[in-house]
Amino acid sequence: MKNIVLIGFMGCGKTSIGKKIAEILNMDFVDTDEKIIQKMGMSINEIFKKYGEEYFRELESMLCEQIAESKVPLVIATGGGIIKNSDNAELLKENGKFIYLEANADKIYENIGDDDTRPLLMGGDKRITIERLLDERIPMYYEYADIIFNTNDKNVEECAEELAEIAMKKSIRLVNGPNLNFTGIREKGIYGSRTLSDIEDTVMEKAEKLGFEIECFQSNYEGEIIDYLQKCYFDGIDGIILNPGAYTHYSYAVRDAIASVSIPVVEVHMSNIHKREEFRHTSVTAPVCEGQICGFGEFGYIMALYALKNLLEK
Ligand code: S3P
Repeated sequence: MKNIVLIGFMGCGKTSIGKKIAEILNMDFVDTDEKIIQKMGMSINEIFKKYGEEYFRELESMLCEQIAESKVPLVIATGGGIIKNSDNAELLKENGKFIYLEANADKIYENIGDDDTRPLLMGGDKRITIERLLDERIPMYYEYADIIFNTNDKNVEECAEELAEIAMKKSIRLVNGPNLNFTGIREKGIYGSRTLSDIEDTVMEKAEKLGFEIECFQSNYEGEIIDYLQKCYFDGIDGIILNPGAYTHYSYAVRDAIASVSIPVVEVHMSNIHKREEFRHTSVTAPVCEGQICGFGEFGYIMALYALKNLLEK
């Protein structure tokens, strides 16, 4: 179980929503600002005034290092500027699912009201500063978000309930290798007449019903498949359904990628590869997968969903 890391602009509700999510999921809650206030025995305003923003950012970085060592999964409400330092973001991402609580300037302005605990909003026109900083920060929030959650029309309870459910969802990926983009065109007797995109739609619909978050990927290139498998590792993906196409039979590179990402992979082939040409009887990838499903047409992908569900629930 990974940490749930809430990122977003000041006043978007990270603390209040985070506390509620922690309550619902029975997890520990950490608020980075609160930790810094406790450690320094001073308010954020006082820290900025006495030591400046740069020093505050160093405190945030030190805290990220401590948090990253936590033995128990946490719900973490971060300060709105914590992702300004990419090292912080990358460190927390190693073991965290990032949820960006998106809120527009109106909502933020309304939420902040006359709360004067944020040094960056002091002095000038609050509304103009919010808009300027928001413009600067939005690309960063988007860059790091695994999930973007719009809070504009929801209250704290609604956000927390929906997010607790989303955060617990397992993320899986459907990966298809070379020539599978030609499904529905080539050898229909073997692969059927539905296109890959039809099949992906069916798999995605079923995956969502089974409570998975899913994305699909197809490539005709060995290196792109390897890059994608490695991306799954960095994105903390829970399981993969992989049809490596003809790479199955000879790609030690794809095999090594599967073995190195330490994510459960279910290998799928629509045809029964053992009934076909001799060269198809060997799979160099299956020994590093959890198992192999073949011979059941596109239904094999659905079988793989159930296989992953069973594996991930264990
Ligand atoms: C900041 C946000 C604040 C606090 C500090 C700086 C920022 O936290 O860390 O005032 O740079 O956006 P909240 O996002 O919880 O208000």
